[in-house]
Amino acid sequence: MCGIVGYIGPKEKKEILLDGLQELEYRGYDSAGIAIIQGEKLNSFKAVGKLKNLREKTKDYTSKGFGISIGHTRWATHGKPTELNAHPHLGAYSYVVHNGIIENYQELKKELQQEGVTFLSQTDTETIVHLFEKYHNEGFEPFEAFKKTVNRLEGAYATLLITEAAPDTIFFAKNGSPMLIGFDGEEVYFASSDTPIIGKANEVYYLEDGEYGYVQNGKVHLFDSHGEKVFHTQPLIADKAMAQKEGYRFFMEKEIYEQSRVMGETMMGRVLEEEIVLDELDADFFKGINTIKICACGTSYHSALTAAYLFERLAKIRCDVEIASEFRYKEPLLTKDTLFVTISQSGETADTLEALKMAKRAGLKSLSICNVDNSSIVRESDTAILTRAGIEKGVASTKAFATQTMVLWMLALYVGQVKQTLPKEVLKAEIDAMLHTPKALVVTDELHARLHRLSKRYLHGHGFFFIGRDIFYPLALEGALKLKEISYLHAEGYPAGEMKHGPIALADAELFTIALMPKTMHYDKIKSNVEELSARDATICAISPLPFELADDFVQTHYSSHPMVEFFEMMVVTQLLALEISVRLGNDVDMPRNLAKSVTVE
Ligand code: F6R
Repeated sequence: MCGIVGYIGPKEKKEILLDGLQELEYRGYDSAGIAIIQGEKLNSFKAVGKLKNLREKTKDYTSKGFGISIGHTRWATHGKPTELNAHPHLGAYSYVVHNGIIENYQELKKELQQEGVTFLSQTDTETIVHLFEKYHNEGFEPFEAFKKTVNRLEGAYATLLITEAAPDTIFFAKNGSPMLIGFDGEEVYFASSDTPIIGKANEVYYLEDGEYGYVQNGKVHLFDSHGEKVFHTQPLIADKAMAQKEGYRFFMEKEIYEQSRVMGETMMGRVLEEEIVLDELDADFFKGINTIKICACGTSYHSALTAAYLFERLAKIRCDVEIASEFRYKEPLLTKDTLFVTISQSGETADTLEALKMAKRAGLKSLSICNVDNSSIVRESDTAILTRAGIEKGVASTKAFATQTMVLWMLALYVGQVKQTLPKEVLKAEIDAMLHTPKALVVTDELHARLHRLSKRYLHGHGFFFIGRDIFYPLALEGALKLKEISYLHAEGYPAGEMKHGPIALADAELFTIALMPKTMHYDKIKSNVEELSARDATICAISPLPFELADDFVQTHYSSHPMVEFFEMMVVTQLLALEISVRLGNDVDMPRNLAKSVTVE
């Protein structure tokens, strides 16, 4: 949610900021802005909408020679996406960018307004720059003024501040929102994640919550509540080429096609012929654990719901799943025999992170399943299993969901193994099926062409129901979420058996039902649910290996002997269908309206 970059050094700052923001644009793209101090001169530019508007606005501006600079791409939380609300926010002689939410901003704003400060924007962020200038005007040195400002902030923030009062210094603070510092000799970079600094910096330091400081003359001064601290950087190793589109029209499309390959990486060294090996877990990790509780949001939550069936069925261990934003405020009863599992692609989702902190405070053991190493959730968890999906750039998550579900399936088998609740022959059959999944995820030209053709019939209507049973119910939820995110058409996922308890009232020819009809799981049951809908004239698109005579449209999947293999193949079908519908509707597939990739506010 929002992206921040900063740079201090002699290079062309405008380009560094714009290129960095380009890498972060997926986090929010309502507006963007940059501010640069070079010598005594302060310049700033802002533009509403995508970054290209800011590029256009700054095309005649250059910023070579030593200077300091900050930039921001915004996903609106307080105030509409206007130029006035775009960051950087200006005081009288300072600029600030911020990611997160200042929870006590109204109180601070009132206090400042009473002292005569005029606010230009509706944002919480603007309070930071005015507070800073207030303390500076009271006679505090710039760093003392910044420190006093940070001490007043409540909530989540990653923030950078520059001021004419210290034209060779960038001030920074982090609490709850991600930020890192990159180093290349005397040049110093800031960013919300490592992609903007790949190829520029060679060492990196991931800031911890509660850290703040300043950078001056190529030296970073870092503080926490105990005072100035020594910190150690680590080499920045990342392959930027992986993050490019590689010839696909959209990142989402590339990521759907990649699933077959990355699944191999997810399993590598973990899925052996007759056992699951998870080096991340100590031998006695599950000792004393009788229940698993999983917390996540959105797509990751759907993966968790799928896993609940697997944990109970395969490992015979109780598993509850909760939406993180609900969990946080329900005063949950937590017992120490519960393993607390969080699932997150980004590792930065605010609600999931907070749920994890709550579980830790209650003394629970924690495990995260995450795609981003060094992310806040990974660092906060006792142990993490990385999904190894590679950078996911499409806002609509695809390969992250596939690899999360695979890791959870592996974990269910692993628990069955260590608790000896899973017979050897069942384990062997599950592993065999696992090894077949990369094949089930291959996108053939034929399949893609079929979904492209079908998609033209699904561009209108008064809604979609994705229906399924058992693990195909969470898949139905996920299929519906994918479709609504990028097509802006209304779609719901439903357990097929529930349709006649209300939703069937909506059935008519304009109600599109996407029926997930696997051969290996309750086929006859779902068939009769679909027949009931068809009898009421609903338009049926059946996805199944078995031909279904009542289907208006039919996507035939392969025969398989295992539900999870069918699950993954059907997942690809629903992803491609959503993609093709979105393309036909002319939508921005990778950056759908109103969404952001990493939701770092609650
Ligand atoms: C949907 C999607 C979101 C995320 C959710 C949680 O395509 O991507 O629903 O799944 O915001 O994000 P993570 O997994 O990063 O915690």
